[in-house]
Amino acid sequence: MDIFEIDGPVKLSGSIDVAGSKNAALPVMAAALLAAGETVIPNAPNLADIRSFETLLTSLGVSVRRDDKHGLHIDATTIDNPVGEYDIVRKMRAGICILGPLLARLGKVKVSMPGGCAIGDRPVDIHLRGLKALGARINLENGYIVAEAPSGGLRGAQIFLGGPFGSTVLGTDNVMMAATLAKGTTIIESAACEPEVADLANCLNAMGAKISGIGSPRLTIEGVRELSPVSWPVIGDRIEAGTFMVAAAITQSRLQIRNCDINNMIAVVDRLRCIGAVVEAADGGCDVALHGPIRPADITTQPYPGFPTDLQAQFMALLSLADGNSVITEKIYPDRFMHVAEMNRMAANLRKEGPSVIVAGVEKLIAAPVMASDLRASAALVLAGMAATGTTVVQRVYHIDRGYDKIEQKLNAVGAKIRRIDV
Ligand code: EPU
Repeated sequence: MDIFEIDGPVKLSGSIDVAGSKNAALPVMAAALLAAGETVIPNAPNLADIRSFETLLTSLGVSVRRDDKHGLHIDATTIDNPVGEYDIVRKMRAGICILGPLLARLGKVKVSMPGGCAIGDRPVDIHLRGLKALGARINLENGYIVAEAPSGGLRGAQIFLGGPFGSTVLGTDNVMMAATLAKGTTIIESAACEPEVADLANCLNAMGAKISGIGSPRLTIEGVRELSPVSWPVIGDRIEAGTFMVAAAITQSRLQIRNCDINNMIAVVDRLRCIGAVVEAADGGCDVALHGPIRPADITTQPYPGFPTDLQAQFMALLSLADGNSVITEKIYPDRFMHVAEMNRMAANLRKEGPSVIVAGVEKLIAAPVMASDLRASAALVLAGMAATGTTVVQRVYHIDRGYDKIEQKLNAVGAKIRRIDV
C-alpha cells in the first residue's frame, strides 16, 4: 500500500496541466451503453475510478480498450450480462449510472444497491423515483435494484428531481440518459446544472439525442429511436484545477493552471479572491498567485453554480492558515468532515459544530503522520503537507489515486517534494 512523504514548506512555480474530468468521463462511459458501436473518450483520465468503470463495462460483455494515444474505446455493440455486480459497484458509486442507459436500451437491468461511503450514506431514491416516472418497474432483491421497462418501452413524463440537499448530479444523468430513448417528451425539473451534467447532455446530443435547456434546472428531452456512438473529449476537471489553485495559494506561490475553464468555477474564484489570491484568466486556463496574508472567508457548499463540496476539504486546509476565523458549512454532505481530525493532528485549529466547521487560523501547520479517508480529504492533506513544517506522511494514498492521476508527479514538476513509497 502506497504512502506519501511530503516535505514542507515548499514554494511552487510553473505550469501545471489539468486532466479530463473524472466526473464527466464516468457518465459518458455509461452513455456509451446507449448505442451499438464504438464510443471514444480521447482524454479519459487514467484513474482508479475510471478503471473500475472499465471493469464494470467489461463485466456487462462490452468491449473496452485503452490506447495511450487515442484514449478510451468502448464498443457496446454486444451487452450480454446487464448486471452491475456488488463487488464492482461497491468500489465506485458511479456504477449506478448504468441503470438508466441499460433500462432504455435493453428494457431490463440489475444493479447492486451502492452502499454508504466515508462522506455519508448517499441514497439513490431520487434516481429510482425518476426512472419509475418513465414507467420502469423497480424492485429491490437481495441488495440489487432490479428494473424493467414496460412492454412498450419507457415513456416520457414530467419529473421533479429535487431532494433534501438540492438536485442530484448522477440522478439527473441517469434519468436524462433513460429519457433519450423513451417515447415522447420528458421534462426534468430541478435538474442538476453542474458542468459535467451539461457535458453529458452535449455528448448525448452529439449521439443524436434531442435535449434542450442544457445547463439549466429544466431539461426537455424528446425521445428518439436510437443513438449512434461518438468520439467525445470531456471537459477539463474543475476539481483538479481547484485543487491546484489552492496549492498555489497555500504555498504562497504562483502557478499557471492549464486546461480548465474558470467560467465553470466562478464561486471558487470568488472565494480565492476574497482570501487574497490574484486569479487571472490566461491561455486555456488561469494564473493564480497569493503573496501576503491568507485572509479568512466563510464558505458554504451548494449545488452548482454554488461552491462545490468536492473542494471543501482543500479550502479548509488553506483557511486553516488564515489570519482570522472562517466558517465552512456543508450543505451537500453534512458528514463530509473526516479530514478535520487529521488536520488538527497537523496543528490546525478546527472545531466541528453540526454541519459547519469553525476554522481558527493558525500561524503554521506542523508535519504529522495522517490518514487519508476519502478522495478529497486526502487531497487536502497533501496540500496541508506542502505548507506544513517538516515531513508529513499520508497513509492510504489509494484514496487520492481514485481521482487524481499521479498528483505527486504533477506537483513535484512545479516544485513540491512528495515521495510515493510502497510500504
Ligand atoms: N441524494 C439523495 N437521493 C438521491 C441522490 C442524492 O438524497 O437519490 C442526496 C445525496 O445524499 C447528497 C445530495 O443529494 O446529499 C447530492 O448528491 P448527488 O446525487 O448530486 O451526488 P452524486 O451524483 O452521487 C456527484 C459526484 C460527487 C460530488 C456530488 C455533488 C460523480 C461520480 N460524483 O455524486 O463527486 O460530490 O456529485 O457534486 O460525479 C468526488 O468526485 O469526490 C465526488 C464525491
